[in-house]
Amino acid sequence: MTLIAFELSGETPEIPTAEIVGVLESENIPFSFKCQLEQVFIIETPGIDAGLTDILASRLAMTRHIIEVSGVSPANLTDIISMAEKVDFSNLNSLTYIVRAKKIKRKSHISSEDIERGIGKVLYDRGYRADLVNPCIQYRAIVSDNTCIFGPVIASIDSSAFERRKPHNKPFFYPGVLMPKLAQALVNIARVKEGSVVLDPYCGTGGIMVEAGLIGASTLGCDVQRKVLIGAKINLDFYSVNYSLMFQDAGSMALRNNCVDCIVTDPPYGRSALIQARSLDTLMQDSLCEMYRVLRPKGRLVLVSERPVETWAQNAGFRMADLFTQRVHRSLTRRITVLDK
Ligand SMILES: C[S@@+](CC[C@H](N)C(=O)[O-])C[C@H]1O[C@@H](n2cnc3c(N)ncnc32)[C@H](O)[C@@H]1O
Repeated sequence: MTLIAFELSGETPEIPTAEIVGVLESENIPFSFKCQLEQVFIIETPGIDAGLTDILASRLAMTRHIIEVSGVSPANLTDIISMAEKVDFSNLNSLTYIVRAKKIKRKSHISSEDIERGIGKVLYDRGYRADLVNPCIQYRAIVSDNTCIFGPVIASIDSSAFERRKPHNKPFFYPGVLMPKLAQALVNIARVKEGSVVLDPYCGTGGIMVEAGLIGASTLGCDVQRKVLIGAKINLDFYSVNYSLMFQDAGSMALRNNCVDCIVTDPPYGRSALIQARSLDTLMQDSLCEMYRVLRPKGRLVLVSERPVETWAQNAGFRMADLFTQRVHRSLTRRITVLDK
């Protein structure tokens, strides 16, 4: 059994762990939950090969590093060094290394430099060679909740691609779009995988479809604004994803029953959005029934809203799987409702 630690980005507490679980489940990677520290999520697994590590690294939006845990100790220098002394570094062979320490929210009193120097000395004394510029292996010591988690980094997540896909950088921009990092995390929570059929019934400029399409899903989007749909086509073509767009109302979709694997959507909040001849409440109730109808059994819907939708969703037939809230600004807290059919 191998312990794997995910060093999480700090933006929200629960969404990063939910997306990890979503990816592990969608990729059929066997695992059991080990523990959760602040910004660190640890699982136990029979083993992750390089291919699966690459999949995790390419899909996770809110993880920074993935670490194979070699040692765990209380977060004081003496215990950290004696933990490092017990670690088997023999797989380093003649490879060079660097040791990096990260204190979560700077809570601990020990300095990162002392941890790096202390563990580095253990390796140096055993004859291993450090390379501070271009090391073959990075060891990471993460100090969180009075615990130090130590081991080699098996993957680091490059978030620059998410930056490049920010709404303003896309060929077509229209206000009210989710950031690609969050869109990708929601796609992961929905357990989308390569080959899945993913629907966004309120697709707007196609932000969610782009993220699902980039992991190899076939995407389907509906909207009732022609100019926005034309913009979605421009964006989806730009990223060369597999898509179909429909000019149709989310409250009555020309789709057959059980035909999509996952739904991820960000319906209008009812402020400036176009809703088409009825109240937002009626639209939400109608479209939740439609989403339930077109989703395959055991399929998952991840829905972003400002107001609670649980009762309508349960009336439509859905089972609540999770609920996350995310404060956007003083007058807007997003609700992310995860619903299973
Ligand atoms: C919050 S935006 C979605 C933004 C989208 N995630 C994106 O990447 O651009 C909500 C979208 O719902 C659309 N909409 C409003 N009423 C609708 C309806 N009855 N059926 C389908 N789409 C509708 C709006 O035109 C708008 O594009």
